Amino acid sequence: MDKLTNSPAWQDLAEHANMLRCMHLSDIVKRDEARGQRDYLNAVSLSVNFARQRMLPETWQLLYALADQQGLAKSIEAMFTGEAINHTEGRAALHTALRAELDEGLVQDNAPVYAQVREQLARMEVMVAKIRAKQWRGFSGLPITDVVNLGVGGSDLGPNLAVSALKEGDELIRTHYLSSMDGAKTAALLSQLDPHTTLFVFASKTFSTIDTLANAKTALEWLVCGGATKALAYKQHFIGVSANAKKMTEWGIHPDNQLFFWDWVGGRYSMWSTIGLTIAIALGMDKFRAMLRGASDMDQHFRSSVWSENIPVRMALATVWNRNFLHIHGKAILPYDARLALLPAYLTQLIMESNGKSVDIEGNRIEYRTCPIVWGEVGPNAQHAFYQLLHQGTEVVTCDFIAPVHRPDIEAEPDVPTRRALAFQHQLAMANLLAQSTVLMLGNDALKKAPEEAYRYYAGNQPSNTILLKQLDPYCLGALIAMYEHQTFAEAMIWKINPFDQWGVELGKQIAVTTMNALDSGDLSGLDITTQAIIAQWSQL
Ligand code: F6P
Repeated sequence: MDKLTNSPAWQDLAEHANMLRCMHLSDIVKRDEARGQRDYLNAVSLSVNFARQRMLPETWQLLYALADQQGLAKSIEAMFTGEAINHTEGRAALHTALRAELDEGLVQDNAPVYAQVREQLARMEVMVAKIRAKQWRGFSGLPITDVVNLGVGGSDLGPNLAVSALKEGDELIRTHYLSSMDGAKTAALLSQLDPHTTLFVFASKTFSTIDTLANAKTALEWLVCGGATKALAYKQHFIGVSANAKKMTEWGIHPDNQLFFWDWVGGRYSMWSTIGLTIAIALGMDKFRAMLRGASDMDQHFRSSVWSENIPVRMALATVWNRNFLHIHGKAILPYDARLALLPAYLTQLIMESNGKSVDIEGNRIEYRTCPIVWGEVGPNAQHAFYQLLHQGTEVVTCDFIAPVHRPDIEAEPDVPTRRALAFQHQLAMANLLAQSTVLMLGNDALKKAPEEAYRYYAGNQPSNTILLKQLDPYCLGALIAMYEHQTFAEAMIWKINPFDQWGVELGKQIAVTTMNALDSGDLSGLDITTQAIIAQWSQL
C-alpha cells in the first residue's frame, strides 16, 4: 500500500468516509442548519461557500490534519521562497514573484528576481503606451490597429481569458488570439485584417513550440505578400515574448522588440509575466497591474492564513475529500457570467496539466487517484447541454458555481429601461445558479411519491462550491485565478506530485515529428499499422 494511503491522517479520513458515505447531503444539511453561515470564507473580494460539500465539521478537522501530516505549510514556504520544487526540471516555481509588491530579496540563476520582473514590466509598459497611443507604425507608416497573439497553452489561454472577461467594447486596439496549429482560424482571421496595421505578438516560453512557429511563419508570409519587406515585417510587425532570448533572436525578432520572462515561471502560470502583453495592450497597463494586485493579495492570503480560513487550501482539501474518499471523478467549472466563457478552458490546462500525474515526487508510481477530469462551460448554456448528466446520469460530479455579485455596468442609472432589463437578467442568472446547486445537493423524492415515474427522479447528493466575486474586474479576476493556482498547488502537495512539469505532453510531440517526416517522404513503413491504414483511407475521401 502507498505510504500516503497507509498514513494515520489518511486512514482516519477513510474510516470517517465509511461512516459518512451512507448519509445523503440533504440529511447532512438538514441536521446542521448553521453550516451555511459557518462554512464560508470571505477574503480578497471573493466569497466561497463550502456548505454544499458532503462534509461534517469533523471532516474539515481530519482534512486539516492531513494537510499538516503532508507538510503543506513547509511546501507553501518552499514555493514562495524560490526553492527548486519543480525537481524534474531543477527549477523554482516563482509565478508569485511576478506579482509581488515587495522585494523579498529572492535570487534565481544569480540574478535578483524582483529587479528583473520590474525591468521587464517597465519595458512592457513602454511598448504598451506606444501601441495604445497609435505611435507603433507598420511597414507603410500606418498606425497599428490590431494585435494578434500567437501562442498556445499557457502562452494563449490566460491572456485570452483576461481580455475576453474584462474588455468593455471600447478598446483602443483590437486584440486577437491564434493558437491552433491547423491554420484554419489563422486563414479566417488574416482575411479580415490589414497587413499594414497588424502587429503579431509571438508568445512562447520555449520559442520552439511547433504550433506557434507554424502560425508565425504563416503570419510572416502574409505580411510579405501584403507588401512588407522581410526586414520591416520583422522589425515593425513582430514582438517576441519568451524565456529563450537566443531562439527569439535566431527566429528574427528585433532586439528592441524582445520581452523576457524566466525558466522559473511555468508556462501555465505565466499570464502575470510579459506573456500578459496583449492584456495590457487591450485593457491598459493600469488594469494589468490591478490584476497583479488581486493575485498578489490572494498570495498573501494563501501564505498567511490558517487552514480553516484559507480559501485555496480548503478548496484543495475539498477536492482531495471528493476525489479520494467519496471517489468522485469529475469536476465541472460553471461560471454564471458569459464573460467568463474561457475560464473552463483556462482551468483545464492549469489543473489537469499540473496534476494529471501518476508518479510521486520520489519517482514511485502511485495507486491513489490524483487530478479529477475537469471540464466546464458557461453555466446557463450548460444547463441546456450537459446538466442532464449532472442531475440524472450515473456519474457523480463536483461543481464550482462561479458568479460576480455586482454588475457596476448595469447598477449605474438603474432606471434606464435597458439597464433594468439587464439587471433582471443578472438576477435570473443568480437564481439559476442557486437553483441548480440546490437541486444537485437535495435531489427530490419524486420516486417515493410516484415510483412509476422514475424518470423524474433526481438523486441529488452532489457536492459543489459556490464562488462569488465582488464584481468581474481586473482585481477580482486576478484573485480568482491565483486562488485556483494555489488550490492546484495545495492538492499536489497533499498527493506528493510535482504540479510544475508536464512530461506527459512530450512523447506525442516526438511521434508527430516522425509522422510528419513520413508524410513528407511518402515512406510510411516506420509508422504503426493503424496509422498507415488511416492515412491510406484519406485517399478514399
Ligand atoms: O505542450 C505543453 C506546453 O509546454 C504547455 O505547458 C505550455 O503552456 C505550452 O506548451 C506552450 O509552450 P510555449 O510557451 O513554450 O510555446
